[in-house]
Amino acid sequence: MPYKLVTLGGDGTGPEVMAEGLKVLDAVSKPLGIEWDIDDIPCGGQYYLEHGDLDWPADSPERCAASDLILLGAVGWPDPEGTGGPVLMRDGKMAGFSPVIGNRMRLNLYANVRPIKLYPGVSHRIHGGHKQIWEPGKVDMVIIRENTEGLYAPTGGKLSPGGVADVAIDTRVITRRASEQVIRHAFELCKRRGEQGHGGAPKDGKLRVTAIIKDNVLHGCQLFRDVFFEIGEEYPDIEKDTAIVDAFTQWLIGQPEYYDVCVTTNMFGDIVTDLASTLQGGMGMAVGANTGKDHAMFEPIHGSAPKHAGKDKVNPIAMILSVKEGLDWLGARKGDAALTRAAAAIEAAVIEVLEAGKPLTYDLVGNEAAAKCSEVGTAIATAAGRRVS
Ligand SMILES: NC(=O)c1ccc[n+]([C@@H]2O[C@H](COP(=O)([O-])OP(=O)(O)OC[C@H]3O[C@@H](n4cnc5c(N)ncnc54)[C@H](O)[C@@H]3O)[C@@H](O)[C@H]2O)c1
Repeated sequence: MPYKLVTLGGDGTGPEVMAEGLKVLDAVSKPLGIEWDIDDIPCGGQYYLEHGDLDWPADSPERCAASDLILLGAVGWPDPEGTGGPVLMRDGKMAGFSPVIGNRMRLNLYANVRPIKLYPGVSHRIHGGHKQIWEPGKVDMVIIRENTEGLYAPTGGKLSPGGVADVAIDTRVITRRASEQVIRHAFELCKRRGEQGHGGAPKDGKLRVTAIIKDNVLHGCQLFRDVFFEIGEEYPDIEKDTAIVDAFTQWLIGQPEYYDVCVTTNMFGDIVTDLASTLQGGMGMAVGANTGKDHAMFEPIHGSAPKHAGKDKVNPIAMILSVKEGLDWLGARKGDAALTRAAAAIEAAVIEVLEAGKPLTYDLVGNEAAAKCSEVGTAIATAAGRRVS
């Protein structure tokens, strides 16, 4: 029986990186006898401009719910009215809300899992150059962000007396249920990484979960912290650590090797994981896994980078590593060793191309030495296919 795969290419460079992800998926699947029934759903700002009412076809929620695995490229398209922002729908939400935040809410994808790993041959992105200060092994953590509530819970609104927006209210919702889910996910992941032999903080090898909070000010963070220590009692072999979010940002950059698994609320996680992506070579390298009990959706954390659209230019590695993470997740869920093997082959192929230093895109090697997005995809697909043949 083929696995049901939903692909949501989206806007701009989203479909371009998705094509490379699928090229690599195809290269590892055929030799391993893995079959896919692919349901490609158009979505995003460009779709909304063409169709005028929804940002994806009306039956998309059911199609996503019926899938085994969901891959997302990126959504968001510049408003042709020249507002400077993305296309908005009539309800004020960004066109592309339904496949991204809608799927996270509807499918209860409560944990946004973001591996932050500096691969060999990749330079960090601090001070703009292509310099490498940290040894690759010193940046190897996972940040898990609560994905369904916090400051992004759609509970706020605007007051516009006389038609002029005057008051805007965003309410931060933190519940025990969602905190428990995501914190347990973090401890379980930390334990599993330890059992599989690639866990522990690079600095001291300790299994450690760090809760990133602002409990000196925010009630929601006090609840999140209390739940963190309650659940932490069930994991005596894992060190429990807390960090105030503002201080965390400088520790993250100054001593990334201290961190193993981190867990935090929605908006803090959104911000610190983009910052953390500089430690792993930038947005073109960073993956987000939206994970729930029954479904998961894997995506590069970058947006649709509209200014690069149609140029075959951007880095497809974040998308390709999203495919790898998706195969790992599905392999564990279905007990299918072929999927797990395919995932390992993809990661090894990415490392092979990174270590060779070419072909790689502009963000990793600068404009002069840059290869095309599709050339990088083909090189990784070839290397991955060879590993499973
Ligand atoms: N999950 C999503 O789909 C998602 C996430 C973030 C932003 N967005 C949307 O994307 C649109 C553009 O947003 P933005 O410009 O702020 O962020 P962006 O991530 O699209 O691009 C910011 C910059 O990051 C770099 N970049 C992004 N992807 C890259 C890649 N694959 N390879 C190399 N460099 C890459 C580029 O320099 C780009 O200019 C907006 O409409 C925004 O709302 C969508």
